[in-house]
Amino acid sequence: MGDKTLRFIPIPFVHWPDTMMTELAGEGLLFTSDMFGSHGASKLIYYDENPDQFELRDYYASILMVYSNMVVRALRKVEELSPKLIAPAHGALHREIATILKLYERWVYWSPLSRGLVVVGSQYGKTEKLARAAADGMKESGLKPIVLDSAAAGPDDLLADTLEAAAVIIATTTHNGKPFPGVTFYLDLLEEVKPKRKVFAVIGCYGWSGGGVRTVKKRLEEMKLPVFSRLEVKGPPALEDLQAAKELGKRLGERAREETLVRADGFSA
Ligand SMILES: Cc1cc2nc3c(=O)[nH]c(=O)nc-3n(C[C@H](O)[C@H](O)[C@H](O)COP(=O)(O)O)c2cc1C
Repeated sequence: MGDKTLRFIPIPFVHWPDTMMTELAGEGLLFTSDMFGSHGASKLIYYDENPDQFELRDYYASILMVYSNMVVRALRKVEELSPKLIAPAHGALHREIATILKLYERWVYWSPLSRGLVVVGSQYGKTEKLARAAADGMKESGLKPIVLDSAAAGPDDLLADTLEAAAVIIATTTHNGKPFPGVTFYLDLLEEVKPKRKVFAVIGCYGWSGGGVRTVKKRLEEMKLPVFSRLEVKGPPALEDLQAAKELGKRLGERAREETLVRADGFSA
């Protein structure tokens, strides 16, 4: 093209089957299509100007996470090209290349931060009470818990917070023998993205024969995700139930910290 040379480098399934990067040869400029993209409209051009204005993690979680195996391969290609400037098709440009590569490296391997996630499906608040006690326990273990209401949180938040959590508690009431609908939606998301490097627990309140907690546990096990423990409470949680939930959250957090540290995943704040 004139005196410029464009090189096309296929990176299939990052995110479309025919996705490719384009290198402006000799200039250090790499157009990466969806890889390193971010949501958000900002007047800023570069990600490093103000990362808070660009939803880089949510973009990865909602668009690319499901293809993380393909993103790993694409990352190696980017490293080989050692660009000076990365220009994705969406959102900010990246000139701090080492920073963005490090973030992606962490995400593609599901390396958690010292965070916990509690996803709650509760209609009348009993399960939510239990969930908040479990979150308090997580905090005691040193994890920073995020509590998400499955009826209100969108898939971006659910996935992005799962990505960086070392431990996940799913708290569900029982409706007609099944988990709360928002929790079923969350399980469907997990099934798609196949998370790694987290430990799970399932808790919840029910009215008579339950079923919600059992179904969640079964589905997680079918996905080969490690379920550390479960807690089911008939009716409103009593003080000892809340204490048990807190203890469960604490032990789950400790377990997550041990397992992650043992594998030296780069566990950090
Ligand atoms: C629509 C609906 C369906 C329910 N179905 C069941 C059920 O099949 N089995 C059961 O044990 N409890 C059932 N319950 C009772 C709830 O699981 C129970 O009240 C629970 O403690 C409510 O938790 P929450 O306060 O977190 O919403 C049902 C409640 C509602 C509102």
